[in-house]
Amino acid sequence: MRILVTGGSGFIGSHTCVELLNSGFEIVVADSLENSNKESLARVQKITKKSLIFREIDILDFENLSKLFEEFEFQAVIHFAGFKSVAESVKQPLRYYYNNVIGTKILCEVMMKYGVKNIVFSSSATVYGDPESVPINESHPTNPTNPYGLSKLMAEKLLQTLYRNDPQWKIVILRYFNPIGAHQSGLIGEDPNGIPNNLMPFISQVAVGKHDKLRIFGDDYDTPDGSGIRDYIHVSDLAKGHVAAVKKIFESSNKFKSELIINLGNGRGYSVFEVVNVFEKINKCKIPFLVVDRRPGDISQSFADVERAKQELDWESEETIESMCNDSWFWQSSFPNGYLNE
Ligand code: WQD
Repeated sequence: MRILVTGGSGFIGSHTCVELLNSGFEIVVADSLENSNKESLARVQKITKKSLIFREIDILDFENLSKLFEEFEFQAVIHFAGFKSVAESVKQPLRYYYNNVIGTKILCEVMMKYGVKNIVFSSSATVYGDPESVPINESHPTNPTNPYGLSKLMAEKLLQTLYRNDPQWKIVILRYFNPIGAHQSGLIGEDPNGIPNNLMPFISQVAVGKHDKLRIFGDDYDTPDGSGIRDYIHVSDLAKGHVAAVKKIFESSNKFKSELIINLGNGRGYSVFEVVNVFEKINKCKIPFLVVDRRPGDISQSFADVERAKQELDWESEETIESMCNDSWFWQSSFPNGYLNE
């Protein structure tokens, strides 16, 4: 079975490549390298002792994407390629819609052209916006509050239209909560460009001395300790969820009833203060912090109802917040500058 992994050299993509190779799949990675470093793929092959094929291709490039489908026969596609910064999407909404939505459209056009109708799509819990209640299940209203989340929802709708027009398509849409951590080898991990927007990479960079303190965005939320609560999921658990989704597609000989939308999370929330405390305890370090104003657009709390993932994929997260903190630190301390200088 050969899988095309778009955006496979990125944080979640590279971890998913590890799990796909370990599960015996052949993979081809197409990535523009606009937001990632192909060194991650060298590490993937080192970890798994298996090889993969890489092509530097932008999913917006219909011609070269078509040539890839001429060169290789794919049984399914896992589509990660896309921009993923909420803050950046607010500043550059049209760039996000173009890349994330039109990119998905072009990929689907090429897939149709070559008769490949199996896709796992990387979506996000951001499509839910500020939840009416928690835990959040897949029937919760979708009301994204930023262009990034809207671009993911628009791509979901595009895929649902494909299925409605041709039930031969098998579509699994995975809505991630907060992916953190790193592969236990410490060889691959999160490698954000510039100053991290997200909590765990920032904490890890404080721990290695790249920043003097963590700014905690508000301690006046309606939560037990006042700081924001999120559903953190180990990136390796998330990667295994993608393998389970691919297997679901291949094992379902009959057509899908409809496109399958599934939350991938831990099913419980941790506050910012709790994450900081666990990180310090597990890694025997101190994370100085300063409480500052809330970050515009942040929500008070978000965590997943993960029942459907168990039912449909026979998958649930196994890692703990402790292992997420330990693995983040191991990666960051092993490679303080990420893949730079490789
Ligand atoms: C988590 C908590 C912050 C940084 C975003 C995207 C989501 C997904 C994951 C792509 C919040 C607090 C953070 C800091 C802080 N990305 N925080 N100081 O905002 O829940 O989700 O990233 O799919 O789509 O929306 O994650 O890690 O930025 O924030 O206090 O320096 O940590 O306020 O409570 P978020 P995050």
